[in-house]
Amino acid sequence: MRFFLTTAIDYVNNRPHLGTAYEKITADVIARYKRLAGFETRFLMGNDEHSQNVFRRAQEQGKTPLAYCDEMEQVFRDVWRTLDISFDDFIRTTDARRHRPAVQRMVERCREAGDIYEGVYEGWYCVGCEAFKQEKDLVEGNCPIHQTPPEWIREKNWFFRLSKYQQPLLAHYAAHPAFIEPEVRRNEILRLVEAGLEDISVSRAGQSWGIPLPFDPESVVYVWFDALVNYAAAVGYGWDEALCAQWWPADLHVIGKDITRFHCVIWPAMLMSAGLALPKQVFGHGWVFFKGERMSKSLGNIVDPLAAAERFGPDPLRLYLVKEVPYGGDGDFSWDRFEEKYNADLANNLGNLVNRVAAMTERYRGGRLTGDAAPGRLAGAAAEAIARYRPGMDRFALHEGAGAAFDLINATNLYIADTQPWAMAKDPARAGELTAVLYDAAEAVRIAAVLLLPIMPSSAAEVLRRMGETREASQLRFDADTAWRREGDKQILNAGALWPRLEAEPKGAPTVTDPTRPETPESLARVTPVAPEGTAGLGPTTTTEAPAPPGNAAPPAPPAPAAAAAPVDRISIDDFMKVQLRVGKILEAERVPKSKKLMKLLVDAGTEQRTIVAGIAESYEAEALVGRSIVFVANLQPAKLMGIESNGMVLAASPEDGGAILLNPDPATPGTRVR
Ligand code: MSP
Repeated sequence: MRFFLTTAIDYVNNRPHLGTAYEKITADVIARYKRLAGFETRFLMGNDEHSQNVFRRAQEQGKTPLAYCDEMEQVFRDVWRTLDISFDDFIRTTDARRHRPAVQRMVERCREAGDIYEGVYEGWYCVGCEAFKQEKDLVEGNCPIHQTPPEWIREKNWFFRLSKYQQPLLAHYAAHPAFIEPEVRRNEILRLVEAGLEDISVSRAGQSWGIPLPFDPESVVYVWFDALVNYAAAVGYGWDEALCAQWWPADLHVIGKDITRFHCVIWPAMLMSAGLALPKQVFGHGWVFFKGERMSKSLGNIVDPLAAAERFGPDPLRLYLVKEVPYGGDGDFSWDRFEEKYNADLANNLGNLVNRVAAMTERYRGGRLTGDAAPGRLAGAAAEAIARYRPGMDRFALHEGAGAAFDLINATNLYIADTQPWAMAKDPARAGELTAVLYDAAEAVRIAAVLLLPIMPSSAAEVLRRMGETREASQLRFDADTAWRREGDKQILNAGALWPRLEAEPKGAPTVTDPTRPETPESLARVTPVAPEGTAGLGPTTTTEAPAPPGNAAPPAPPAPAAAAAPVDRISIDDFMKVQLRVGKILEAERVPKSKKLMKLLVDAGTEQRTIVAGIAESYEAEALVGRSIVFVANLQPAKLMGIESNGMVLAASPEDGGAILLNPDPATPGTRVR
């Protein structure tokens, strides 16, 4: 079983940015998934060097184009290494041993097939696109992609008879419906080819930077005709027939949606003409934007993928790009959203889960677990996640793969909250049950980590190590290693936080009082989080003691007649379930100095202790609070209040005349979920 996949080769006139990195990361996820699934995989990347912009950039820097390209190769390789891209081969279009003979062979073969002829080209050329443009393609005289005027050129050119391939291409698309993915790109290409194809120029006259045409050394091969050949050149076309027979055709070209025409029309026509097999599939992914805008130097909004990788390692960025962008569609990146997802998915969810399982195993079982009990309900959750993951990944719905792994992580977190191992630990009669629960949780986390290996290679390997996996990640195989194990002795490592929480500036609590909506009598004594001063939430909300974070405090609700009841907006159960309400027990309470309303609480939250600052000091004495059970919001972002970091919100009824009445969930034990 072999799998040969490629990415587009990059122009080297600029460093890689988040958009080009997106393509390499997602292709890497596919390559790693295929290796995990047992394929002998060859993952090719490279640099596209014969572009005029590259030539110009080298001139600007006073370097020869080749010296400049040599330097850029290192820049690109360094970025890809930092992002943990596991390419097996890297080709450059200046490679005289592999690429040049392949391009020359391809041109010769097309000429022998009668598909290359001499003519004169007169028209527009956009250097940014390295493409000939028709008048109708321009917008106010500019290239619509680069927003720069194209150049008018008139020169002797060699042409490729693309028009001859209209019908063969349509026949190929019809016979191979999966040739172009996703469907939206397939439809675009079908429409384009059905409308008719014109012959294209495949040489440039009077230029020195490029590969000379074998039959006209005064001309160089047009940069796209040159670049596309890299895929076959890398596996021996024109220089090693045996290697070529082994690896060609490619199974998958991963490319951006802007260059599907080159890969789905011109490249297959070239291959047909030269008598080579066509690649099995071209996947045209979407674009990644920065806060909704195209990244560009002129807008100054280019995101350097290294900036994200240097802060957190490559994996949080890889996870964000794979999980948050449905593969095939466009996606968006902003630092705020990235940090939000880092905290939500990694710090609070997966990281917290790994820590809880490891800490409890260490505390209650000295770090060792035995799987002699029959698997509990998590084995079913793992099977469901695998059943969603595999077909998703097989059709390159990478976001579904990531989502399936997180389904299992969520199910495991819920399982721990429901089974309450900390309560079992207090009862010697439940020792066997406790071992089984911890074993199952560790096993589920192990399987989730196998699913995450292609997406977050080094951190998933670390999670595996902590969950008792003794083999190297590269030795694991999908079927064998996602099967539920019943091991005699699993060594679980408790090794500290994998993803420390990012402490953001307080962004404020969710607005629980909508000032625009009249209140009904029922809602006046509703249960709301006890928001301390300076944050939105239950009144008393206005105070001069703690300054409100900018733009976050909700204005107090205007009084409204009870009769003016408006329809209440309803939320779905899913929305509600996003709020994690849990039982806690107050261990310590003290008034916050210089504050009338704030009370600092130390709360037993089940598996950990938390500091929560609550606006209840006007209604309760500190001593009376110790030992009380409360309900609190467990998954709220932390906020600093009067210099104290609060990690949660206590719930209380808030009568209209002020004060707060704490909810009492006794006798539920700390950590119990409230819903
Ligand atoms: N050199 C050509 C490809 C030749 S392949 C035989 C080229 N190079 S590029 O450097 O401009 O782009 C490389 C890849 O990055 C392309 O697939 C392109 O679609 C992709 N992306 C460039 N910017 C992008 C985003 N903002 N988002 C996602 N991918 C983007 O085209």
